[in-house]
Amino acid sequence: MSLLGREGEKRDFAEMRRDMVAVQLRMRGIRDAGVLDAMLKIPREEFVPEELRFRAYDDSPVGIGEGQTISQPYMVAIMTAVLKLKKTDRVLEIGTGSGYQAAVLAECAREVITIERIPSLQYHAKEVLSKLGYKNIIFAVADGTLGYPALAPYDGIIVTAGAPRVPEPLKEQLADGGRLVIPVGDRTFQQCLLVVKRDKEFDEQNLTGCMFVPLIGKEGWQN
Ligand SMILES: C[S@@+](CC[C@H](N)C(=O)[O-])C[C@H]1O[C@@H](n2cnc3c(N)ncnc32)[C@H](O)[C@@H]1O
Repeated sequence: MSLLGREGEKRDFAEMRRDMVAVQLRMRGIRDAGVLDAMLKIPREEFVPEELRFRAYDDSPVGIGEGQTISQPYMVAIMTAVLKLKKTDRVLEIGTGSGYQAAVLAECAREVITIERIPSLQYHAKEVLSKLGYKNIIFAVADGTLGYPALAPYDGIIVTAGAPRVPEPLKEQLADGGRLVIPVGDRTFQQCLLVVKRDKEFDEQNLTGCMFVPLIGKEGWQN
């Protein structure tokens, strides 16, 4: 492809990104300026396999290999927005996948710890995020259902795979005043998006229906 072709492609993606934010996010009620700015800025196409880049801004999840997906833009936005992150916050993500959600979190918080169980996905996500210049993301390959106790507590925890129940270690690692967002339901992709707030006691709220790949691990589904 000529340089001109690549420039044209970049312009197309920028247009798609503006449309995504206007139509899929703003028109559906996403108002958090930090989240909207982040998603307007981050080149989502970089997180999608080359042959599927034309689908990077679709209103749906897209395959990233290993049977996993990059989440639908609206899900990324609503899950980030409910965490109500501040620039001083530390946030834990379970399910790095493509790395796109980690980039959005990294724009909204001070530090992101992201955990993935499939090494090849984590390797690729790390490469893309470092190429894009992110320096406030810590990566680990592990069973994220156990959280990451070494750096706990977390002001926000986001789980981007569907669980049978809220894993106890994640509740324990949530800071007082913190929020945890997680899809909970059955393994076959039908879940409720739960928001757990810790304010001395735990308070649980069901935000909406959703469909995620399964969270596999000791406190999740068995492989
Ligand atoms: C929907 S994808 C994640 C989307 C991702 N956040 C993104 O922005 O592309 C769910 C991811 O969770 C991972 N996963 C499932 N169970 C896990 C576990 N126990 N610990 C860490 N990652 C897990 C899967 O391998 C998959 O990559």
